Amino acid sequence: MGKNIILTGFMGTGKSSIGTKLAERLNREFVDMDREIEKLTGMTISQLFRRYGEVRFRSEEKLMAKKLAGKRDLVVATGGGVVLDQENIQVLRENGIVVCLVADPEEIFQRVSRKKGTRPLLKKNLTVDDIIAMLEERKPFYENADYVVETSGRSIDSVVDDIINRLSQESGVL
Ligand code: S3P
Repeated sequence: MGKNIILTGFMGTGKSSIGTKLAERLNREFVDMDREIEKLTGMTISQLFRRYGEVRFRSEEKLMAKKLAGKRDLVVATGGGVVLDQENIQVLRENGIVVCLVADPEEIFQRVSRKKGTRPLLKKNLTVDDIIAMLEERKPFYENADYVVETSGRSIDSVVDDIINRLSQESGVL
């Protein structure tokens, strides 16, 4: 039984697509925290924010982090704000290794612009500067990871290879 692989990172850094492929390659179960919260509450993340606010979403997120920490051999894509709560990272680390995905603000901007309206924290007239400001604010939280992996200008396969290479040098993960 191996540790969970926890993918963290800002919105649009590729946690879900890389997580899906990584799980496939390692023959593991993939869990996307936001999708699990949506299933559990019967609401989309946007609906949850709109009807009950961010505080309620963060509390669902915290419960989900605790639940997943009790499992083994998962690949988990977290929501971009999971790292903001120190307790979430602590609990996920008990049985997991944290891999933070990073990308250039311009590339993040391109990626999130393709899926407008699904991320309640991003305003409608979002600019690259807004992303730079949020990244700066969250930087210390994302840096609190076992590995930091660059995704800008790279294919999903190349990022997945990189993660597998790094994790194979780590005992108790793969
Ligand atoms: C959030 C990121 C989103 C989602 C929610 C809040 C954040 O997930 O959990 O909208 O605070 O960064 P993605 O990183 O998958 O977009």
